[in-house]
Amino acid sequence: MVHGHWLHELGLDGAYELAEVTPDGLDRFILGMRKAGYVGGNVTVPHKQSVFRLVARCDAAAESIGAVNTLWFEGDALVGGNTDAVGFIGNLDDRAPGWDNGAGQALVLGAGGAARAAVYGLLGRNMDVAVVNRTRETADTLARHFGPRVRVHSWDELLELLPRTDLLVNTTSLGMLGKAPLIIDLAPLKASAVVHDVVYVPLETPLLAAARRRGHRTVDGLGMLLQQAVPGFARWFGATPKVTDALRARVEADIRATSPVA
Ligand code: ATR
Repeated sequence: MVHGHWLHELGLDGAYELAEVTPDGLDRFILGMRKAGYVGGNVTVPHKQSVFRLVARCDAAAESIGAVNTLWFEGDALVGGNTDAVGFIGNLDDRAPGWDNGAGQALVLGAGGAARAAVYGLLGRNMDVAVVNRTRETADTLARHFGPRVRVHSWDELLELLPRTDLLVNTTSLGMLGKAPLIIDLAPLKASAVVHDVVYVPLETPLLAAARRRGHRTVDGLGMLLQQAVPGFARWFGATPKVTDALRARVEADIRATSPVA
């Protein structure tokens, strides 16, 4: 829907379509992309790591985040990139201008793929990052990978962390439609803090609703989905599209239609 919207808006001849590829069929599909007429593509679960061995090279973001979500050709070489961090930061810039104020302290909940993209983006914006995750070991691995500006804490430490947090980010699947809500007492959170949830179904998660009620600026996850699509489109079709209110409204309507409680 997103890429189709942009193709139509920019009057470009092209298509973005879904290809269901099994792990067994991945090599054949990726290595046959050129011949099949593709100029590139997105990669999603469960292939985001497996494609590393199939690309000629990858960009710094994919390398650091440990996942490829976008493929394009440079000459005959297939390149793998990761646009999730750009999408994450672009969404914050768009929905909460001035959120980073030059630097600051972020608190990231979760330590999976989305967290790695968030941390990579936040370090690029000079933020210090505290990570809290259910499985401590996963968070420790993430912190070791990204270096001393990332510190791991336990859930028990939230009470001390929240008053010095400028940006609170949920990257866990808690709060997603069908999952348990993420319940945190936001009372100690710094009054000026921005609260961001990468979950976008529902658009307003229980965490965001609680933050809004306390007067915090909130950012939902839909913008990240839209913003991460921009660099891929630009590579494939040679024109940089815009995330407009019209596009957002269209995707929001689709989410509401397919998940009525959202
Ligand atoms: P993604 O790529 O979307 O980040 P993921 O890699 O599966 O998905 O990561 C999911 C994150 O949500 C992890 O941080 C996970 O915590 P664990 O590392 O302990 O698995 C977190 N998560 C999922 N369900 C959770 C729950 N019920 N309570 C707390 N954290 C949860």
